[in-house]
Amino acid sequence: MHLALIMDGNGRWAKQHLKPRIFGHKEGAKKIREITEFCAKSGIKYLSLYAFSTENWKRPKAEVEYLMKLLGEYLVKERQTYLESNIVFKSIGDISKLSLELQQEIKSLETQTQAECNGLTQILALNYGAKDELRRTFMILRQKQECEINEESIAQALDTSGIPDVDMLVRTGGEMRLSNFLLWQSAYAELFFTQTLWPSFSAQELESMIAEFYQRNRRFGGL
Ligand code: IPE
Ligand code: IPE
Ligand code: MG
Repeated sequence: MHLALIMDGNGRWAKQHLKPRIFGHKEGAKKIREITEFCAKSGIKYLSLYAFSTENWKRPKAEVEYLMKLLGEYLVKERQTYLESNIVFKSIGDISKLSLELQQEIKSLETQTQAECNGLTQILALNYGAKDELRRTFMILRQKQECEINEESIAQALDTSGIPDVDMLVRTGGEMRLSNFLLWQSAYAELFFTQTLWPSFSAQELESMIAEFYQRNRRFGGL
């Protein structure tokens, strides 16, 4: 099972609590551990989390800077959680646009968890946009001239190479759109939308969505 989550609604959550937007991001970052650990315990194999999109650079500089700072703190603080919970960490997206320090932290967490863990794989989307991922993928394929262009070779050149397609996609925060997340990989995903803002989302709500997921009839175009 591959579950993808668009963690939206941090800013509105902060507004509801009469706090600045960054307060919502801080609270939202805390929620990641709870949901990841629940998924690990529920036997979900892949969890993709949309943390920062290629479009999010349009936000005010101070907010972008805060998000980057939060990411750095998160990667350091959570290393122990990954190791203790047997979670493999992987990033997708073009991290070359992040600071060198962040890139090193990401690479080091990937290397260590890939060597020491074999439970759930948590995929964190950082400076990720599906259109940008496809553009980079086509550049790779153009370079490998002997390679045939088919669905398999495209899938293998994506950031999610080796990871099965998304089965279930959840978006919190009430918007009913994909905002450039995993477009190729979610071609046949079951979609779930909730009004709940990301910092208020709970393992309990996710559990009931998963129960509904198993009730759905996935036909994949067949009968
Ligand atoms: C999602 O929350 C987090 C990121 C995009 C980084 P938002 O910041 O988009 O929160 P809202 O949608 O403005 O409430
Ligand atoms: C999507 O949320 C991106 C992330 C959750 C990281 P946005 O808040 O950026 O999406 P839009 O702008 O409402 O489409
Ligand atoms: Mg939003």
